Amino acid sequence: MRIDIITVLPELLEGFVRESILGRAQKKGLVEIHLHNLRDYATNKYRRVDDYPFGGFAGMVMQCEPIDRCISALKAERDYDEVIFTTPDGEQFDQPMANTLSLCENLIILCGHYKGIDYRIREHLITKEVSIGDYVLTGGELAAAVMTDAIVRIVPGVIGDEQSALSDSFQDNLLAAPVYTRPADYKGWTVPEILLSGHEAKIKEWELQQSFERTKALRPDLLKKKD
Ligand code: ADE
Repeated sequence: MRIDIITVLPELLEGFVRESILGRAQKKGLVEIHLHNLRDYATNKYRRVDDYPFGGFAGMVMQCEPIDRCISALKAERDYDEVIFTTPDGEQFDQPMANTLSLCENLIILCGHYKGIDYRIREHLITKEVSIGDYVLTGGELAAAVMTDAIVRIVPGVIGDEQSALSDSFQDNLLAAPVYTRPADYKGWTVPEILLSGHEAKIKEWELQQSFERTKALRPDLLKKKD
C-alpha cells in the first residue's frame, strides 16, 4: 500500500513516518509513505499557496492551483482509491473506516490549513472528507498522522502478531479485555486466577465477558452500534 500526504508542513510529519512501526513497515516493503510539500507546486516566486477569501471573510484560503498540480502529478503516475481531505466537517474517522482504508492500494491525504481550501477542490478532486473528532486543530497534519497510523498498523505483516491487531479495542465494536504480564503477584496486586490456569477455552470466554463488561460500563454507545 502507498500513502501520499500533501502538506505545507512536511517537517512536522518527517519523524513520524520514519520512526517506529511506520518506519519498520516501510523497510519491510509493506507500505510506502511519501510526503509532498505543497509549496513545491506553487507557481509564484514566493511559493505562496494561499490567498484572501472572496467575500471579505477573515482568514486565508488554500488556492486551487498548487493542490490541483500536486494531485494531478500523482494521479499521472498511478490510480488512487481515494483522495482524502482532512477537515473538522468531514465524516468521523473510526476503526471500521481504518479497516476499509487499509485494504486500499493507493491513498492521497491532503492536509487542510488556514481557513480551509478553495471549495472547488473539494467538489472536483476530493473523494472523501474525514474528521478525526469534534474539535478544531490548527492544521490537518495531526489528523493525517492519526489516520496513517491507524490504517498502516492493520496492514497484514506490519505488527508482528496479526491476532493482536484484530483483538484491539473497537475491532468488533468492543473495548479490549485487560492484559497482564509477569510477575503474577506484584506487591499483592494479583492477576486474575483464570489467566494462570492454562485453560484456553475458559480464558477466551473470560476475555469476551471482560470486553462486554468494560464496553457496557465505559462505552455503551458501541453496544448499540453492534445491535
Ligand atoms: N483539521 C482541523 N481540525 C480537524 C479535525 N478535527 N479532523 C481532521 N482535520 C482537521
